Amino acid sequence: METLPLQLSNAIDRELAPLSPDKLRQACFELTQRYAQGLSMETQLHRQAYVAARLPATYGAIRQVFRRIEPALSSIQSLLDLGAGTGSLAWAAGDAMPHLQRITLFEKDIELLRLGQHFTQNNLDPLQLAWCRDDITQAEIFPSHDAVVFSYVLNELSLKEQVHVLEKAYQATDKLLILLEPGTPQGFGHLLNARNLLLKLGAHSVAPCSHNAPCPLAPAFKDGKDWCHFSVRIPRGKYHRRAKDGVLPYEDEKYAYLVVSPQPVPLPKDRVIKAPIRKTGHVILDLCTEKGSKERTIISKSDGKTYTKARDSEWGDEWDEQNEKG
Ligand SMILES: C[S@@+](CC[C@H](N)C(=O)[O-])C[C@H]1O[C@@H](n2cnc3c(N)ncnc32)[C@H](O)[C@@H]1O
Repeated sequence: METLPLQLSNAIDRELAPLSPDKLRQACFELTQRYAQGLSMETQLHRQAYVAARLPATYGAIRQVFRRIEPALSSIQSLLDLGAGTGSLAWAAGDAMPHLQRITLFEKDIELLRLGQHFTQNNLDPLQLAWCRDDITQAEIFPSHDAVVFSYVLNELSLKEQVHVLEKAYQATDKLLILLEPGTPQGFGHLLNARNLLLKLGAHSVAPCSHNAPCPLAPAFKDGKDWCHFSVRIPRGKYHRRAKDGVLPYEDEKYAYLVVSPQPVPLPKDRVIKAPIRKTGHVILDLCTEKGSKERTIISKSDGKTYTKARDSEWGDEWDEQNEKG
Protein backbone atom coordinates (compact mmCIF):
# COMPACT_ATOMS: atom_id res chain seq x y z
CA MET A 1 0.00 0.00 0.00
CA GLU A 2 1.44 3.40 -0.97
CA THR A 3 -0.01 6.07 1.30
CA LEU A 4 0.20 9.82 0.68
CA PRO A 5 2.46 11.73 3.07
CA LEU A 6 0.33 13.20 5.88
CA GLN A 7 1.20 16.83 5.05
CA LEU A 8 0.11 16.32 1.45
CA SER A 9 -3.13 14.58 2.34
CA ASN A 10 -3.92 17.34 4.87
CA ALA A 11 -3.26 20.00 2.21
CA ILE A 12 -5.55 18.15 -0.22
CA ASP A 13 -8.30 17.87 2.41
CA ARG A 14 -8.11 21.62 3.03
CA GLU A 15 -8.31 22.33 -0.70
CA LEU A 16 -11.34 20.09 -1.23
CA ALA A 17 -13.28 20.77 1.97
CA PRO A 18 -15.37 23.65 0.50
CA LEU A 19 -16.65 21.46 -2.37
CA SER A 20 -20.00 19.71 -2.09
CA PRO A 21 -19.83 15.91 -2.63
CA ASP A 22 -22.12 16.22 -5.69
CA LYS A 23 -19.92 18.81 -7.36
CA LEU A 24 -16.79 16.74 -6.75
CA ARG A 25 -18.44 13.56 -8.08
CA GLN A 26 -19.69 15.38 -11.18
CA ALA A 27 -16.27 16.92 -11.83
CA CYS A 28 -14.63 13.54 -11.44
CA PHE A 29 -17.09 12.01 -13.90
CA GLU A 30 -16.39 14.79 -16.41
CA LEU A 31 -12.64 14.37 -16.00
CA THR A 32 -12.88 10.63 -16.69
CA GLN A 33 -14.96 11.37 -19.81
CA ARG A 34 -12.44 13.94 -20.97
CA TYR A 35 -9.51 11.55 -20.49
CA ALA A 36 -11.40 8.92 -22.50
CA GLN A 37 -11.67 11.47 -25.33
CA GLY A 38 -7.98 12.36 -25.10
CA LEU A 39 -8.74 15.74 -23.49
CA SER A 40 -7.11 17.19 -20.39
CA MET A 41 -8.37 19.34 -17.49
CA GLU A 42 -10.17 22.56 -18.36
CA THR A 43 -11.84 24.01 -15.26
CA GLN A 44 -10.74 24.49 -11.66
CA LEU A 45 -13.23 21.79 -10.69
CA HIS A 46 -11.48 19.33 -13.05
CA ARG A 47 -8.21 20.20 -11.35
CA GLN A 48 -9.74 19.59 -7.93
CA ALA A 49 -11.17 16.29 -9.17
CA TYR A 50 -7.67 15.38 -10.36
CA VAL A 51 -6.28 16.15 -6.93
CA ALA A 52 -8.99 14.05 -5.25
CA ALA A 53 -9.01 11.05 -7.53
CA ARG A 54 -5.84 10.87 -9.62
CA LEU A 55 -3.06 12.48 -7.58
CA PRO A 56 -3.05 9.68 -4.93
CA ALA A 57 -2.81 7.11 -7.75
CA THR A 58 0.02 8.79 -9.65
CA TYR A 59 1.86 9.34 -6.35
CA GLY A 60 1.43 5.64 -5.49
CA ALA A 61 2.69 4.48 -8.88
CA ILE A 62 5.71 6.81 -8.77
CA ARG A 63 6.55 5.73 -5.22
CA GLN A 64 6.42 2.06 -6.19
CA VAL A 65 8.61 2.61 -9.26
CA PHE A 66 11.13 4.41 -7.04
CA ARG A 67 11.16 1.39 -4.71
CA ARG A 68 11.86 -0.87 -7.70
CA ILE A 69 14.93 1.15 -8.73
CA GLU A 70 16.12 2.18 -5.26
CA PRO A 71 19.85 1.42 -5.73
CA ALA A 72 19.95 3.57 -8.88
CA LEU A 73 18.47 6.53 -6.97
CA SER A 74 21.15 6.73 -4.30
CA SER A 75 23.32 9.18 -6.28
CA ILE A 76 20.54 11.39 -7.67
CA GLN A 77 20.96 15.03 -6.60
CA SER A 78 18.80 16.83 -9.16
CA LEU A 79 15.49 15.97 -10.78
CA LEU A 80 13.56 17.43 -13.72
CA ASP A 81 9.80 16.78 -13.69
CA LEU A 82 8.26 17.40 -17.14
CA GLY A 83 4.47 17.92 -17.00
CA ALA A 84 4.60 18.13 -13.22
CA GLY A 85 0.90 18.77 -12.56
CA THR A 86 0.52 19.45 -8.85
CA GLY A 87 3.95 18.02 -8.05
CA SER A 88 3.16 14.56 -6.67
CA LEU A 89 6.59 13.45 -7.89
CA ALA A 90 8.35 15.91 -5.57
CA TRP A 91 6.73 14.24 -2.55
CA ALA A 92 7.67 10.75 -3.70
CA ALA A 93 11.21 11.77 -4.63
CA GLY A 94 12.03 13.42 -1.32
CA ASP A 95 11.56 10.08 0.45
CA ALA A 96 13.25 7.90 -2.15
CA MET A 97 16.39 9.86 -2.99
CA PRO A 98 18.59 10.44 0.05
CA HIS A 99 20.91 12.93 -1.72
CA LEU A 100 18.31 14.87 -3.68
CA GLN A 101 18.86 18.64 -3.42
CA ARG A 102 16.76 20.27 -6.13
CA ILE A 103 13.80 19.64 -8.39
CA THR A 104 12.83 21.64 -11.49
CA LEU A 105 9.15 21.29 -12.39
CA PHE A 106 7.80 22.22 -15.85
CA GLU A 107 4.03 22.57 -16.15
CA LYS A 108 1.97 24.40 -18.77
CA ASP A 109 -1.24 24.81 -16.76
CA ILE A 110 -0.76 27.82 -14.45
CA GLU A 111 -3.59 26.82 -12.12
CA LEU A 112 -2.17 23.32 -11.58
CA LEU A 113 1.25 24.85 -11.05
CA ARG A 114 -0.19 27.21 -8.42
CA LEU A 115 -1.89 24.32 -6.65
CA GLY A 116 1.37 22.38 -6.68
CA GLN A 117 3.26 25.38 -5.29
CA HIS A 118 0.62 25.79 -2.61
CA PHE A 119 0.84 22.11 -1.54
CA THR A 120 4.63 21.98 -1.46
CA GLN A 121 5.35 25.40 0.07
CA ASN A 122 7.30 25.02 3.33
CA ASN A 123 6.55 21.30 3.31
CA LEU A 124 9.55 19.82 1.50
CA ASP A 125 12.44 21.76 3.06
CA PRO A 126 15.40 21.63 2.52
CA LEU A 127 14.62 20.55 -1.07
CA GLN A 128 14.83 23.46 -3.54
CA LEU A 129 11.88 23.49 -5.92
CA ALA A 130 11.89 25.62 -9.10
CA TRP A 131 8.47 25.74 -10.79
CA CYS A 132 8.48 26.86 -14.44
CA ARG A 133 5.39 27.55 -16.49
CA ASP A 134 6.33 26.08 -19.86
CA ASP A 135 4.96 24.06 -22.74
CA ILE A 136 7.47 21.21 -22.96
CA THR A 137 6.64 20.52 -26.61
CA GLN A 138 8.06 23.95 -27.52
CA ALA A 139 11.39 23.46 -25.74
CA GLU A 140 14.53 23.29 -27.86
CA ILE A 141 16.58 22.18 -24.88
CA PHE A 142 15.92 21.09 -21.29
CA PRO A 143 18.40 21.88 -18.52
CA SER A 144 20.53 18.85 -17.58
CA HIS A 145 19.58 16.98 -14.42
CA ASP A 146 20.64 13.67 -12.88
CA ALA A 147 17.14 12.25 -13.38
CA VAL A 148 14.39 13.34 -15.74
CA VAL A 149 10.79 12.15 -15.31
CA PHE A 150 7.59 12.12 -17.37
CA SER A 151 4.80 10.90 -15.12
CA TYR A 152 1.48 10.30 -16.89
CA VAL A 153 2.32 12.93 -19.52
CA LEU A 154 3.15 11.21 -22.81
CA ASN A 155 -0.50 10.21 -23.28
CA GLU A 156 -1.40 13.91 -23.39
CA LEU A 157 0.96 14.52 -26.33
CA SER A 158 0.76 13.64 -30.02
CA LEU A 159 3.20 10.97 -31.28
CA LYS A 160 5.30 13.67 -32.96
CA GLU A 161 5.42 15.67 -29.71
CA GLN A 162 6.36 12.54 -27.76
CA VAL A 163 9.38 11.94 -30.02
CA HIS A 164 10.44 15.58 -29.69
CA VAL A 165 10.23 15.75 -25.89
CA LEU A 166 11.82 12.31 -25.43
CA GLU A 167 14.83 13.24 -27.58
CA LYS A 168 15.29 16.51 -25.69
CA ALA A 169 14.74 14.82 -22.32
CA TYR A 170 17.29 12.12 -23.09
CA GLN A 171 19.86 14.79 -24.00
CA ALA A 172 19.20 16.40 -20.61
CA THR A 173 19.54 13.14 -18.66
CA ASP A 174 22.80 12.56 -16.81
CA LYS A 175 21.80 9.31 -15.07
CA LEU A 176 18.17 8.20 -15.33
CA LEU A 177 15.20 8.86 -17.57
CA ILE A 178 12.01 7.65 -15.92
CA LEU A 179 8.66 7.28 -17.73
CA LEU A 180 5.30 6.31 -16.23
CA GLU A 181 1.98 5.88 -18.01
CA PRO A 182 -1.39 4.37 -17.17
CA GLY A 183 -1.22 0.55 -17.23
CA THR A 184 -3.50 0.37 -20.27
CA PRO A 185 -2.61 -1.00 -23.71
CA GLN A 186 -2.42 2.61 -24.87
CA GLY A 187 -0.07 3.58 -22.02
CA PHE A 188 2.15 0.55 -22.71
CA GLY A 189 2.11 1.39 -26.44
CA HIS A 190 3.56 4.84 -25.72
CA LEU A 191 6.31 3.27 -23.62
CA LEU A 192 7.09 0.65 -26.23
CA ASN A 193 7.57 3.41 -28.83
CA ALA A 194 9.63 5.38 -26.32
CA ARG A 195 11.80 2.33 -25.55
CA ASN A 196 12.51 1.68 -29.23
CA LEU A 197 13.44 5.33 -29.73
CA LEU A 198 15.61 5.60 -26.62
CA LEU A 199 17.52 2.36 -27.29
CA LYS A 200 18.26 3.70 -30.79
CA LEU A 201 19.64 6.86 -29.17
CA GLY A 202 22.01 4.65 -27.17
CA ALA A 203 20.08 4.31 -23.89
CA HIS A 204 20.43 1.24 -21.66
CA SER A 205 17.58 -0.47 -19.79
CA VAL A 206 17.34 -0.07 -16.04
CA ALA A 207 13.81 -1.36 -15.35
CA PRO A 208 11.46 -3.13 -15.73
CA CYS A 209 13.27 -4.77 -18.68
CA SER A 210 16.29 -6.82 -17.62
CA HIS A 211 17.76 -6.67 -21.16
CA ASN A 212 18.23 -4.32 -24.11
CA ALA A 213 16.69 -6.72 -26.64
CA PRO A 214 13.34 -6.07 -28.37
CA CYS A 215 10.39 -6.31 -25.98
CA PRO A 216 9.17 -9.94 -25.90
CA LEU A 217 5.60 -8.75 -25.31
CA ALA A 218 5.54 -6.61 -28.46
CA PRO A 219 4.15 -9.33 -30.78
CA ALA A 220 1.30 -10.20 -28.36
CA PHE A 221 0.65 -6.48 -27.88
CA LYS A 222 0.36 -5.96 -31.64
CA ASP A 223 -2.23 -8.77 -31.69
CA GLY A 224 -4.12 -7.01 -28.87
CA LYS A 225 -3.50 -9.91 -26.46
CA ASP A 226 -1.01 -8.74 -23.84
CA TRP A 227 0.96 -5.78 -22.56
CA CYS A 228 3.46 -5.12 -19.78
CA HIS A 229 2.02 -3.37 -16.74
CA PHE A 230 2.07 -3.48 -12.96
CA SER A 231 -0.24 -2.65 -10.07
CA VAL A 232 -0.05 -0.68 -6.85
CA ARG A 233 -2.62 -0.59 -4.07
CA ILE A 234 -3.47 2.86 -2.75
CA PRO A 235 -5.72 3.81 0.13
CA ARG A 236 -8.71 6.00 -0.70
CA GLY A 237 -9.07 9.05 1.52
CA LYS A 238 -12.39 10.71 2.32
CA TYR A 239 -12.49 12.91 -0.80
CA HIS A 240 -11.14 10.17 -3.03
CA ARG A 241 -14.04 7.91 -1.98
CA ARG A 242 -16.47 10.78 -2.48
CA ALA A 243 -15.11 11.64 -5.91
CA LYS A 244 -15.34 8.08 -7.13
CA ASP A 245 -18.50 7.06 -5.34
CA GLY A 246 -16.36 4.23 -4.01
CA VAL A 247 -17.05 2.11 -0.97
CA LEU A 248 -13.77 0.20 -0.85
CA PRO A 249 -11.11 1.88 1.31
CA TYR A 250 -8.47 1.21 -1.40
CA GLU A 251 -8.03 0.86 -5.13
CA ASP A 252 -5.51 -0.84 -7.39
CA GLU A 253 -3.81 1.50 -9.81
CA LYS A 254 -2.46 -0.20 -12.91
CA TYR A 255 0.58 1.50 -14.39
CA ALA A 256 3.34 0.89 -16.91
CA TYR A 257 6.86 2.25 -16.60
CA LEU A 258 10.25 2.43 -18.22
CA VAL A 259 13.57 3.52 -16.79
CA VAL A 260 16.68 3.91 -18.94
CA SER A 261 20.13 5.37 -18.48
CA PRO A 262 22.80 6.79 -20.81
CA GLN A 263 25.24 4.46 -19.01
CA PRO A 264 24.99 0.66 -18.78
CA VAL A 265 23.82 -0.42 -15.31
CA PRO A 266 23.74 -3.84 -13.61
CA LEU A 267 20.43 -5.47 -14.54
CA PRO A 268 18.28 -7.95 -12.64
CA LYS A 269 18.27 -11.48 -14.07
CA ASP A 270 14.52 -11.71 -14.64
CA ARG A 271 11.37 -9.84 -13.64
CA VAL A 272 7.96 -11.13 -12.56
CA ILE A 273 5.60 -9.52 -15.08
CA LYS A 274 2.24 -10.91 -13.93
CA ALA A 275 0.67 -11.50 -10.54
CA PRO A 276 2.20 -14.81 -9.35
CA ILE A 277 -0.29 -17.69 -9.47
CA ARG A 278 -0.15 -19.48 -6.12
CA LYS A 279 -1.53 -23.03 -6.21
CA THR A 280 -1.42 -25.77 -3.64
CA GLY A 281 2.13 -27.06 -3.75
CA HIS A 282 3.41 -24.87 -6.57
CA VAL A 283 3.74 -21.28 -7.78
CA ILE A 284 3.60 -20.14 -11.40
CA LEU A 285 5.74 -17.14 -12.34
CA ASP A 286 5.57 -15.30 -15.65
CA LEU A 287 8.94 -13.72 -16.29
CA CYS A 288 10.61 -11.28 -18.64
CA THR A 289 14.11 -12.76 -18.72
CA GLU A 290 17.62 -11.39 -19.10
CA LYS A 291 17.73 -13.10 -22.52
CA GLY A 292 14.87 -10.88 -23.67
CA SER A 293 12.28 -13.65 -23.69
CA LYS A 294 8.94 -14.13 -21.98
CA GLU A 295 8.93 -17.38 -20.00
CA ARG A 296 6.72 -19.19 -17.54
CA THR A 297 8.35 -21.10 -14.71
CA ILE A 298 6.69 -23.46 -12.24
CA ILE A 299 8.26 -23.80 -8.84
CA SER A 300 7.05 -26.61 -6.64
CA LYS A 301 7.28 -27.27 -2.94
CA SER A 302 10.08 -29.76 -3.57
CA ASP A 303 12.24 -26.80 -4.71
CA GLY A 304 12.58 -25.90 -1.00
CA LYS A 305 13.90 -22.35 -0.45
CA THR A 306 13.17 -21.33 -4.04
CA TYR A 307 9.53 -22.25 -3.47
CA THR A 308 9.38 -20.09 -0.33
CA LYS A 309 10.86 -17.17 -2.27
CA ALA A 310 8.47 -17.73 -5.17
CA ARG A 311 5.49 -17.86 -2.80
CA ASP A 312 6.54 -14.51 -1.29
CA SER A 313 7.33 -12.87 -4.63
CA GLU A 314 5.16 -10.05 -5.93
CA TRP A 315 4.15 -8.84 -9.37
CA GLY A 316 7.00 -6.57 -10.52
CA ASP A 317 9.73 -8.11 -8.34
CA GLU A 318 13.14 -9.09 -9.64
CA TRP A 319 13.68 -12.83 -9.86
CA ASP A 320 16.95 -14.74 -9.89
CA GLU A 321 16.23 -18.46 -9.69
CA GLN A 322 19.90 -19.42 -9.25
CA ASN A 323 20.29 -16.98 -6.38
CA GLU A 324 16.97 -17.96 -4.83
CA LYS A 325 18.33 -21.53 -4.62
CA GLY A 326 21.41 -20.34 -2.73
C1 LIG B 1 -2.09 13.49 -16.04
S1 LIG B 1 -1.26 14.91 -15.52
C2 LIG B 1 0.11 14.22 -14.63
C3 LIG B 1 0.65 15.17 -13.62
C4 LIG B 1 1.81 14.67 -12.80
N1 LIG B 1 2.98 14.42 -13.60
C5 LIG B 1 1.41 13.44 -12.01
O1 LIG B 1 2.02 12.39 -12.21
O2 LIG B 1 0.52 13.54 -11.18
C6 LIG B 1 -0.48 15.45 -17.00
C7 LIG B 1 0.18 16.79 -16.81
O3 LIG B 1 0.98 17.10 -17.95
C8 LIG B 1 0.80 18.48 -18.22
N2 LIG B 1 1.12 18.70 -19.64
C9 LIG B 1 0.50 18.18 -20.71
N3 LIG B 1 1.05 18.66 -21.84
C10 LIG B 1 2.03 19.51 -21.47
C11 LIG B 1 2.93 20.33 -22.18
N4 LIG B 1 2.92 20.38 -23.51
N5 LIG B 1 3.80 21.10 -21.48
C12 LIG B 1 3.82 21.06 -20.12
N6 LIG B 1 2.97 20.31 -19.39
C13 LIG B 1 2.08 19.54 -20.05
C14 LIG B 1 -0.67 18.72 -17.93
O4 LIG B 1 -0.97 20.08 -17.78
C15 LIG B 1 -0.84 17.92 -16.66
O5 LIG B 1 -0.50 18.65 -15.53
